[in-house]
Amino acid sequence: MPLSRRRFIASSLLLPFSTLLPRISLASPEVGFDYVLTAQPATLDISPEGSTAGFGFDGQFPAPVLRAKQGQKIRIKFINLLKEPTTIHWHGLRIPIEMDGVPFLSQPPIKSGEFYIYEFTPPDAGTFWYHPHVNSIEQLGKGLVGAFIVEESDNELKKLAFDQDIPLLLKNWHLDDQGHWLPFSTPRQSARMGTPGRIETINGLRAPQLKVQAGSLVRLRFLNVDNTVMYRIVMPKGLDAKVIAIDGNAVNVPFSLHEPWAMGPGMRLDIAFIAPSKEGQVIDIKNRQGKLNFNFFTLITEGKAAQKTKIIPTLPASVIPVPDIKNAQKINFTFEWQGAITPADKLLQGKHDFWVINKRAWEGMSRDNIPAPLVKLELGKSYIFNLRNVTQYHHPIHLHGHTWTVLKSNKRDIHPQGYHTDTVLLGKNETVQVAFVADNPGRWMYHCHVIEHMNTGLMGFIEVS
Ligand code: C2O
Ligand code: CU
Ligand code: CU
Repeated sequence: MPLSRRRFIASSLLLPFSTLLPRISLASPEVGFDYVLTAQPATLDISPEGSTAGFGFDGQFPAPVLRAKQGQKIRIKFINLLKEPTTIHWHGLRIPIEMDGVPFLSQPPIKSGEFYIYEFTPPDAGTFWYHPHVNSIEQLGKGLVGAFIVEESDNELKKLAFDQDIPLLLKNWHLDDQGHWLPFSTPRQSARMGTPGRIETINGLRAPQLKVQAGSLVRLRFLNVDNTVMYRIVMPKGLDAKVIAIDGNAVNVPFSLHEPWAMGPGMRLDIAFIAPSKEGQVIDIKNRQGKLNFNFFTLITEGKAAQKTKIIPTLPASVIPVPDIKNAQKINFTFEWQGAITPADKLLQGKHDFWVINKRAWEGMSRDNIPAPLVKLELGKSYIFNLRNVTQYHHPIHLHGHTWTVLKSNKRDIHPQGYHTDTVLLGKNETVQVAFVADNPGRWMYHCHVIEHMNTGLMGFIEVS
């Protein structure tokens, strides 16, 4: 049932490697839509010894990779075939509030059996993703996460000349080896760094070996779609691999990774490299945990290299509005741990507020009860947010509908200087300054992307009007 118009297929660069990658079906689309997408129960083959009843977009994992074109309208008919309400949020896209997929703030929740039409024009090219914004611990945890790619214009794409474009969904499942679900969240761990899963996957595969064409110019799009865990990507020393985009935004000058790149939940990283020209060469990509590098997945070259010499291109600059730093209003946000844990038996029921933003824990919302915004911003004005993490744990802080420019940190040099992101990772006791133009009217969620943190207080919204 996943559908796509021919223009998407024609520009898809995935074809020779389609078996490794999310599938795009060639079925004819329902008239007027670029995609018809469902959320539904799905059988997942993740664990080594048994399959699992989970959820999937179009009933599959990985979810279909949705591809749009920068500056061109996309229409998606989304049908909810789950037994519970849901929505889709388009993480990182600067689109109108009506399309943001947050229940009550931007649209009514989509009930079981109902559909909703998402229609918008993505202003920025890059690597984004999509996920529900309802019952997130379970809906995301059970598989409702997918890559949303906004392609550069055909002209630009031609110049960039990537031979392969490979989205890599990084997700750690709360499953045992037999395929039974383990708890998505425990009070003890939500009050700390969150509850990690047990089975690590890339595109739903455990430590896969993926094929790349020898000598080809490859674009890897890493997406941390996990509820909880951090990935620290380590590229092999001998390979000339360059970061070309961070969290969906092109970097001005592609750069090599000398240190592992830390990606919290919600964050993305685009890396380009030229594959070795010989067949059978293995490229090991690792994940740093603590002081050690662990094998994550491998790429292996196949076929013969083309004659043409390739170079790693610089992506066209993103079109994020430039904040007026001098006149920007400064606003402080303190992300904090609140109080102690009450006895465990109590904690197993009900709602817990472990975390606060400016002393407020997210109180939840319903149709008739929408809490006050954390702050009201004036449409068109520039702001500097001072994001203060006064806890011992890291928090990937995410704002909907806008893209930040990262200015400075009290703990590290910001590299690359002034890069853009929708999700900024705050290390323990770190303060990061970000700036942006509040140019998108609406009520925008603003939360930690460790799903358990957002569920236990670390969430709010800002209002731009
Ligand atoms: Cu991925 Cu509220 O976001
Ligand atoms: Cu988002
Ligand atoms: Cu957090």
